[in-house]
Amino acid sequence: MRIDIITVHPELLSGPFSHSILKRAQERGLAQVVVHDLRPWGLGRHQQVDDYQYGGGAGMVMMIEPIYNVVQHLKEERHYDEIIYMTPDGKRFDQPMANRLSLQENLMMICGHYKGIDQRLRDMLVTLEISIGDYVISGGELAAAVVADAVIRLIPGVLNDETSALTDTFQDGLLAPPVYTRPPDFMGWKVPDVLLSGHQAKIEQWRLDQSLQRTKERRPDLYKKFIENDHANQKP
Ligand code: ADE
Repeated sequence: MRIDIITVHPELLSGPFSHSILKRAQERGLAQVVVHDLRPWGLGRHQQVDDYQYGGGAGMVMMIEPIYNVVQHLKEERHYDEIIYMTPDGKRFDQPMANRLSLQENLMMICGHYKGIDQRLRDMLVTLEISIGDYVISGGELAAAVVADAVIRLIPGVLNDETSALTDTFQDGLLAPPVYTRPPDFMGWKVPDVLLSGHQAKIEQWRLDQSLQRTKERRPDLYKKFIENDHANQKP
């Protein structure tokens, strides 16, 4: 998979992709993240990328031409499965969306700043608008990094133990159960006996029970959905 990210702040994206799992994914040739600085595509001597908004009001708007030109340039090289615009008024990002995007070959992400990008770019070029949650951050870069991370770790071969993505929180619609490691007793705080029992079926049942209990307590919305689906699946 290749992800091209367009931004006026490429330095914000130099960190996330050069460490740990995302770094290894790129070294193994499973994912390639290419960050494009929008500034050289800016207009005039000052390489302008934003301007006042029509109709008045506070906040600048990112202009059409620089983004349009860099997108066209990239599209000449390859077909993009999705051209994504990171925006708080987009579709809420979740695990099913990450799963779906992880199956794509080429993704482009446009990071907005200020008041966002000119609406005509969204109408003309963008195929998917994503929000990472109901809050506003200073620009699309950190949101793009979140989405790229969630997507890249799902590509087969990226995680060493592939089952660990399958047992992630949300992957089956439930929160993950609690986990423990050594020592078995820390100042009287003990690991649940069942995990030390070696009885795999009992351990799996305990994990499922814990997942259900956690989800019911912390995310009743997910719990309701899970129970409804479970019932639907059990019907003949
Ligand atoms: N840009 C600013 N806030 C954002 C959000 N919540 N999601 C995606 N992009 C954003």
